[in-house]
Amino acid sequence: MEDLLGKISIVTGGVMGIGREIALRLARDGSDIAVVDIEKEGGQKAADEVRSMGRKSVFLEVDVTRWDQVRAMVDGVLKHFNKVDILVNSAGIVGPIVPLWEYSVEDWDRVMAVNLRGTFLCCKAVIVPMLEQKSGRIVNVASMAGKEGNPMMNAYSTSKAAVIGFTKSLAREVAQQNIIVNCIAPTVIATRIADSLGEEQREILLSKIPMGRFGKTSEVAALVKFLVSEECTFSTGQCYDISGGRAVY
Ligand SMILES: NC(=O)c1ccc[n+]([C@@H]2O[C@H](COP(=O)([O-])OP(=O)(O)OC[C@H]3O[C@@H](n4cnc5c(N)ncnc54)[C@H](O)[C@@H]3O)[C@@H](O)[C@H]2O)c1
Repeated sequence: MEDLLGKISIVTGGVMGIGREIALRLARDGSDIAVVDIEKEGGQKAADEVRSMGRKSVFLEVDVTRWDQVRAMVDGVLKHFNKVDILVNSAGIVGPIVPLWEYSVEDWDRVMAVNLRGTFLCCKAVIVPMLEQKSGRIVNVASMAGKEGNPMMNAYSTSKAAVIGFTKSLAREVAQQNIIVNCIAPTVIATRIADSLGEEQREILLSKIPMGRFGKTSEVAALVKFLVSEECTFSTGQCYDISGGRAVY
């Protein structure tokens, strides 16, 4: 299916894991892709991979916590592609897995900055051209941790809960402008984030998933594809679980 032909997508965190899979999935379905990430080396490779699928692609090296860089990134995409149709905010970090009383202030601020401020800045930068175009699709990658609050992952859980609230608020601001904004809440997906979990944390998280396995990046990409496609027309401001049956609300 090439229903995204002619669409321009920005995928943050597009070098690795879930973001990379989303970038490739949207490219497979026709979209040209701006890969946005802090990882320069992998970034060029990711853009090359998209080009090898016959789509246009640029890599933009950006720290999503920096407003000057994010603003320049969106200006660059507009110059290069003339428009932006889709934004997927997948850049994120877990931070330390320690009790709150051992959590450093610097680590807490960094996790909040990447996961929450980064999402805010990227949405703030694309929303103006989307309002001018009177169309747009945004998906923010939250987490089940934001709904449940994972112990020992305070800043991560807090930032992802905030991304859910942020998404609901923005969606309602632009609901009449043909801009659809949703977020997703994956449980553990097999990526390096999952690999970085300790054995004990891994087992605890696995035991909570009724399907008895971690998710695949391709499964997340399929959900995101639906949310950014023309098939998704009457759902906005929602948080979509992708959790093997774990989410109960
Ligand atoms: N893997 C999981 O189990 C899981 C579960 C729920 C939610 N998530 C969320 O999914 C998203 C992707 O996770 P993943 O598992 O693919 O992680 P990952 O570490 O494989 O990929 C994250 C990407 O974000 C980039 N990044 C990090 N900080 C950045 C910054 N300041 N500016 C720009 N780019 C930056 C990294 O370079 C990397 O390419 C994250 O938001 C994560 O919180 C992951």
